[in-house]
Amino acid sequence: MTNERNSSEDKVLVTAALPYANGSIHIGHLVEYIQTDIYVRFLKMTGRNAIYVCADDTHGAPIEINARSQGVEPEEFIARFQEEHERDFKAFDVDFDIFYSTNSEENRAWAYRIYEALGRNGFLEEQSIEQLYCEKDERFLPDRFVKGTCPRCEAVDQYGDVCERCNATYEPTSLKDPKCSLCGEPPVGRTSTHIFVRLDAFSDFLKGWITSGTLQPEIRNFVEGWLREGLRPWCVTRDGPYFGFEVPDRPGKFFYVWLDAPIGYISSTEKWAKDHGKDVAEYWERPGAKIVHFIGKDIVYFHTLFWPAVLEGSGLALPSRVVVHGMLTVDGEKMSKTRGTFINAAEYLQHLDPQWLRYYYAGNLSSRPDDLDLSFEDFKNRINSELVNNVANLCHRSISFAGSRLEGKIGRPSDGELEGKAMDLMKEIREHYEALEFRKAIRSINELADLGNVYFQDREPWKVVKSDVEAARATVTECVNIAGLLAVALEPVVPRLSAVIQEILGTAGRKWDDACFDVADRTIGSARPLVSRVDQEQIDALLARNAAAPVPEAGPPPADAKTKRTEEPAAVPDAPTIDYEKFAAVSLKTGRILEATKVENADRLLELKVDVGEPSPRTIVAGIAEAYPPEGLVGRNVVVVTNLAPRKLRGIVSHGMVLAVGDGGKDLTLVEVASDVPPGKPVR
Ligand code: MSP
Ligand code: ZN
Repeated sequence: MTNERNSSEDKVLVTAALPYANGSIHIGHLVEYIQTDIYVRFLKMTGRNAIYVCADDTHGAPIEINARSQGVEPEEFIARFQEEHERDFKAFDVDFDIFYSTNSEENRAWAYRIYEALGRNGFLEEQSIEQLYCEKDERFLPDRFVKGTCPRCEAVDQYGDVCERCNATYEPTSLKDPKCSLCGEPPVGRTSTHIFVRLDAFSDFLKGWITSGTLQPEIRNFVEGWLREGLRPWCVTRDGPYFGFEVPDRPGKFFYVWLDAPIGYISSTEKWAKDHGKDVAEYWERPGAKIVHFIGKDIVYFHTLFWPAVLEGSGLALPSRVVVHGMLTVDGEKMSKTRGTFINAAEYLQHLDPQWLRYYYAGNLSSRPDDLDLSFEDFKNRINSELVNNVANLCHRSISFAGSRLEGKIGRPSDGELEGKAMDLMKEIREHYEALEFRKAIRSINELADLGNVYFQDREPWKVVKSDVEAARATVTECVNIAGLLAVALEPVVPRLSAVIQEILGTAGRKWDDACFDVADRTIGSARPLVSRVDQEQIDALLARNAAAPVPEAGPPPADAKTKRTEEPAAVPDAPTIDYEKFAAVSLKTGRILEATKVENADRLLELKVDVGEPSPRTIVAGIAEAYPPEGLVGRNVVVVTNLAPRKLRGIVSHGMVLAVGDGGKDLTLVEVASDVPPGKPVR
C-alpha cells in the first residue's frame, strides 16, 4: 500500500502544448519543445518516473478550410504535418515518450466522456447566439476569417476578435464593414444554438487552484485579473463544416477545437499507457501523479481557466503546475512571415547544428515567462566562446592529451580540492535545472569547464610530461573527470555531445547521482571532433534563405557553372517564405504537348499547343528551343502554370508557362509527368 502510493507520487507527466497540424514547426515552437525536453531529460536523469507527452492538434475550421483548398481530405492533410513534425522534433533531439494525435479514437472517447460528465454535473447550458455567416461559402466564419474595421479605433483590416492596433477585443458581429476572408463578400448575421460550459460556476474553485503553487507569480497576477473581471460561459461547439468530433446528441455540431485539444493530453497518455502496460487512470483519474504543462504566453487563458475547470467539472485529476515561457523574437523583432524572419525547423537544419539552438535557448531560459531573443550575433559568440572554446575545449584537450602523450591511460584522481569544487558546482547545476533556471545552469556549467581549463593551464602537463609522466597523468586525470561531469551536466541540453564524451570516457548511461570523480585506472577512447564552431557564412546562408532571392538573369550560364555544379552542388537560395495561400494562388496543371513549332527569328522560342484539359488546346510560347527539337516534344506530359497573365512574345500571345529545370539555353529539362496521367489534373 505505502509502496504503491510512493510509486504514484513519483510519477511526473510533462506535456508541451500540442502544435497545430496546420503548418511547419518553426524556431519559435522549438523554444517550448526544447525547454520541456531539457526538463524531462533532467527529471529522468535524476531518477524521476517522468514521461513527455505531446500530440498534433488536428481539429478546427482553419485545418478544414486549408485541406479543402488543397483538394485533400483533412485526414490526409494532418497526416502530412504529423509526419513532418515528428521528423523535425527528432532532428532536434526532442524525445517524446509519445507524440500522438487529437484525431484519435482515444481522444474521441475522452471528449465524449468529459462532455457527458460536464452535462451530468450541470455545467453545460444552451444558448442561441448570432454569428457571422458567409452565404457564398455557406459557412459560419471563425473569428480569424473575418476582417473589418475596429469598432473602437476605426483601424481597417482587423480580425473578427481583436484589433491589433488598439488591442480591443470584441464579437465579430460588432466589427464594422466585415468581409469574409475566403471570398471577400460581406457576411450576414445568423443565429445558431450552441453548448456552453458554465465557467462562472468555477470561479471559486479557480481562485483556489491558481493560488496553490500552480503558476509563476507573473502569470498568477494576470489570471487573477481575469477572475476579478468575472468569467462568462464558454462556447464549446461549432457548426459544420468543421473538422472535429461531432457532438453526440447534436448532429451537424462539432466540439470546438479548444475543447478536445487539451483532452489530447489525456488520450495521448492513454495511448502511451496502453503501449507500455500502464494505466492512464494513475495519471488522470486520481491525484498522485504530478501533471506539468509547458505552454507559451499566448495560450495561458485556455490552460489556467478553461482546462482546469473542465477537469474539475468532470472529476479528473488537476495539473500541478503550468509553466509559461515567453515568445521568441529574432534579432529583436517578432518573427513574421511578411518580414521574412520566420525560420522553420527544416530550414534551420539545412544550415546550422540543432545542438547549437538547444544550447542557446537553454542559455536564455529562466523560470520567468520573459520573451526570449535569438540574436544571431550573440548566438555565434556564445556557441563559439562557451560551448566550443570552453566546455568542449576542456574535454577535447584532456582526451587528446591523454591519447597522444599517455597512451590513453588515466590514473586515479587525487586532488580533493578540485573534486570538492567541481561537486559543489554539480549540486548548483542540479538545483538550477530543478528550478527551471536553465540560464543559470549553463552559467555554472561554464564555471565547471573554467575550473578544468584553468587547472590544465596552470599545471602545464605538456611541459611536465617531459620529465614526470605520472605528474602529467595526474593532471590529465583530474581534467578527464571534469569532462565526465560536464557530460552529465550537459546531457539534458546537448545529449549528442554528451553521448560522444561519455562514449570516449567509457561512462555511457550515467545518471546524475553516478557523476563523481570515478573515471580511474582505465584506458579511454581517442579524441574525436565534439562540436563544431559556428561560421558566419552558415548564418548568412540561413538568413539569405529568408531574404529576397535575386531573380536569375536570362542568358547563358557562366562558363564554369557546369563543372562547378558537378563538383560541389551549391544550394540555390530560396525565395522568401510564403504562406500556403500564396502557393495555392498558382494554378498548376498537367498538360500534353500536341504540337510544337519554331518561332521565326527567335532562336530560343517554340510555339506549343498544349492540352490542359480544356475544350481547346492553349497556345504557349516556351524558351526551350535550344534544349529540345520541336519534333521531340509532341506527346510529352508536362506541368503548366495555367493562370499566368497572358503575355505577347514575338507577336504570339502565350497563355501559360511550361515548367522546366535548369539555367536556360541548352541547360533545360522539362518537368515531366508519367504518361498515364491525363491532361488538366491539378499539380500540388
Ligand atoms: N494548438 C495550440 C495548443 C493546444 S494545447 C492543448 C497551439 N498550437 S501552436 O502550434 O500555435 O503553438 C504551440 C506552442 O508553441 C504554444 O505553446 C505556443 O506558445 C508556442 N509557440 C508558438 N510560437 C512561438 C514563438 N514564436 N515563441 C515561443 N513559443 C511559441 O497554440
Ligand atoms: Zn465567403
